[in-house]
Amino acid sequence: MRYLAVALPFSALALTVSVSAQDEDPQVAQGRQVFEHMCAPCHGQGPGDDGSAMLPGTAALAEKYDGTRPGALELRSDLSAPVLSLFVRRGVGAMPAFRASELPDDDIAAVAAYLAANAAAAGQ
Ligand code: HEC
Repeated sequence: MRYLAVALPFSALALTVSVSAQDEDPQVAQGRQVFEHMCAPCHGQGPGDDGSAMLPGTAALAEKYDGTRPGALELRSDLSAPVLSLFVRRGVGAMPAFRASELPDDDIAAVAAYLAANAAAAGQ
């Protein structure tokens, strides 16, 4: 009985997560996957592997905007697909440019949709 009481909240949580993943817009789901794979190593919200408090993209943007915008892209609501394309295709500062063969326009649009959905969910 004691085990059941411990296990139940976890199974309820798992159910909520899988239901919301199924409800997710397919473009947002695609964007989440692309972001996690191609962008989060520099723009994620966690600390760096080397013990630094922020990942390099997040740290550079936090410094650039100095509190006027979040350093984490996932909290930004101002990055439409055309704006993202501009930065992603040209590269900026320490960020490399991504060619269409590595990151198609469709994936950039999906990342924009994911960032917008995520920022909205985070109340930004
Ligand atoms: C190798 C690390 C790295 C990767 C990978 C990377 N970025 Fe960046 N990105 C940076 C850094 C560092 C900056 C800040 C550059 C500067 O302004 O000096 C930046 C800046 C940006 C900016 C500019 C935002 C602004 O307001 O100035 C955007 C947009 C952006 N990145 C999007 C992306 C997306 C989308 C991806 C994934 C497809 C990505 N980046 C992958 C390191 C990275």
